[in-house]
Amino acid sequence: MIIIKTPEQIELMRQSALLVSKTLTEVATVLKPGMMTLELDIMIGNFVRDHKAVPSFLNYNGYPFNSCISVNDVVVHGFPKKKELIEGDIVSVDVGVILNGWHGDHAYTFAIGDPGEEVLKLIDVTKESLYKGIEKAVAGNRIGDIAFAIQEHTEKKHGYGVVRELVGHGLGRSMHEDPQVPNYGKRGSGIKLKEGMVLAIEPMINMGTKDVFTESDRWTVRTRDGKPSVHFEHDVAIGKDRGDILSDYAPIEKAEQKNPHLFTSKKANLVQPLS
Ligand code: MF3
Ligand code: CO
Repeated sequence: MIIIKTPEQIELMRQSALLVSKTLTEVATVLKPGMMTLELDIMIGNFVRDHKAVPSFLNYNGYPFNSCISVNDVVVHGFPKKKELIEGDIVSVDVGVILNGWHGDHAYTFAIGDPGEEVLKLIDVTKESLYKGIEKAVAGNRIGDIAFAIQEHTEKKHGYGVVRELVGHGLGRSMHEDPQVPNYGKRGSGIKLKEGMVLAIEPMINMGTKDVFTESDRWTVRTRDGKPSVHFEHDVAIGKDRGDILSDYAPIEKAEQKNPHLFTSKKANLVQPLS
């Protein structure tokens, strides 16, 4: 059953989504080599609680941490660890909050130091594909239009692997509501999008094979071939003419640009190779 939100409820959900954006901005500010992902997780939990919210992942189906921090070939649901990040690592940080009873749930992938051109391109293309999907998040379209747009940009155009086992989802008073939002599928298929629906759209894109497996910890999802995977997630309300993005990458990107330890493709191009 798909739960339609009123404009007032969507404004509350925007506050929840923006608290996640704010948290990810803190992450973008402090990330550097030598940091342990468990330190980040503790910081995330404290930041969320300091803002009168609850980290929603903690204890969700028994999940034991505040956030999911997925490094390199970990696709999603990575456990924060007492292990230092090193230059060249890519890190997806996924944060969920409950604020005033409403969920926010979004994610961003950072490069710590230079992971190389190929990986930076995977990051760019995955982020682009999220926006291609969001362009289709308008009333009258179907869920398959979002899915097709993401798959087209990543798999067809760039030959990357689109993860099949995990999908985006409706969001509201629960973290996972109907409908499912796959990152692959046929144009014009699936349920019809209506104003008042809120979706977490979250492409999980692998450099190599689309195939993944879950570790014996029952959470950590990794690529079969050990190649890197990238994850971006936005919370989006279906609009009349366009998707209304409730979360916000602008402050995260600003902090990312300012942080000398974080690489993006543009910055990477500015770096002179050591001869
Ligand atoms: N963004 C993830 C999702 O939408 C977060 C869930 S992780 C869990 O499924 F730990 F809470 F399960
Ligand atoms: Co999600």
